[in-house]
Amino acid sequence: MIPTIEWQENYVRMVDQRKLPRKVEWVTCRGYKDVIRAIQNMVIRGAPAIGVAAAMGMALGARSIRVKDPQAFIKRLQDIGRRMRDARPTAVNLRWAVERMLSLAKEYADRPAQEIKERLQEESQRILNEDIESNRTMGRNGAALVPQGAVILTHCNAGALATGGYGTALGVIRAAHERHKDIRVIADETRPWLQGLRLTAYELMADGIPVSVIADNAAGSLMRQKKIDLIITGADRIAANGDVANKIGTYQVAVLARTHKIPFYVAAPVSTIDPTLPNGDQIPVEERDPREIHTLGQTQLGPPQVIALNPAFDITPSKYVSAIITEKGVIRPPYRRAIRALF
Ligand code: MRU
Repeated sequence: MIPTIEWQENYVRMVDQRKLPRKVEWVTCRGYKDVIRAIQNMVIRGAPAIGVAAAMGMALGARSIRVKDPQAFIKRLQDIGRRMRDARPTAVNLRWAVERMLSLAKEYADRPAQEIKERLQEESQRILNEDIESNRTMGRNGAALVPQGAVILTHCNAGALATGGYGTALGVIRAAHERHKDIRVIADETRPWLQGLRLTAYELMADGIPVSVIADNAAGSLMRQKKIDLIITGADRIAANGDVANKIGTYQVAVLARTHKIPFYVAAPVSTIDPTLPNGDQIPVEERDPREIHTLGQTQLGPPQVIALNPAFDITPSKYVSAIITEKGVIRPPYRRAIRALF
C-alpha cells in the first residue's frame, strides 16, 4: 500500500487522496500552513492520518520559528498549534497530536531551539510509527470478532489511507483476511466524497480482499435480506459514554443494524477517545461547503440555487455500538466505566 504521509529531508509529502484511485500524486508541504490547507481541502483525511499530519505540521512550524528565547519559542509554537488544531473540528486526533507535540516542546524548553526542533520532528515520526503499530494490535484484537466466511459492511474509509498505515476498521478486516477467514467486504460508496468507492475499494482490491461497493441507500435492504453479517467502521471522536462521531451515514447504518440484530463494531485507537466530553452531543460536527453535494467533479448535478446541507459527520449513540475495538483491547457496554479504565 502506498504510504499516506512521509517526512522527507525538509518537507512533508502526502498522497493526494482527492485524486485516488485515478492518479497517485503527491502534495508537498514545506510549512505548517501547507499542512493546514491540505487537511482542510481533504488532500489527507481520516482521523488518525490528520493527527499524524498535524504532528508533522507542528514540526515544520517549529523549524520556521526564528526566536531563540525559550518562552517566546513555546508561545509561537502554541499559536501554530491553535491553528493546526482548528483545521478540522470533529476528529479529536488533531488536538491530541498538537498537545503531545506541545508538551514535548515544553519538556525540552531549556534546550537550544535547534534541539527542540529535532526532537519535535522525531516525535512526529514516533506518532506515525505508533499509529501503524496500534492499528496492527487493533487488527489482532478485532479479528477474533469476525466469524469464518463473514460478509462485512464498512462505511467511508478507515484504512491505511486514513491512518499512518494498515487502518482501523480495515485493519481488523485485513487481520481477519490474513487469518484466512474467507471474508467478503461490502463498502458503502459514502457520498459526497466517495471514500468508500474510491479509497476503501482501491485499498482492499490491492490486498486481494474481495470487495463490492453499494450506493449508501442500499445498506438497509441488504441487511433485511441477511446479506450482511457484521459492520465495522472507524471513528473520528468517541465521547466518555461511548457515543461515536464518524462519517455522515454511520448513524443510519447502526440503527438499521440494531433492527436486524447485526453486530455493529467501531475500531479506533485510544487517541480517538475524548474523555473530556460526557456524551456525543458535545462533539462539534463539521459542516462542509454545500458545493460538495451539488457537484461531481466539474459537473453541476442539481439546480444551482437549491440549498444543500452538508454535515460531514454524525453521532451514533453508544446504545447502538456492540463493541469498540482499540489497541488496548475490545470494550463493551457499559462504556463509561470501560473507557475510564483505558486512561
Ligand atoms: O471526512 P473524512 O474522510 O476525514 O472522514 C473520515 C471518517 O469518517 C473515518 O471513518 C474516520 O476518520 C476513521 S479513519 C480511521
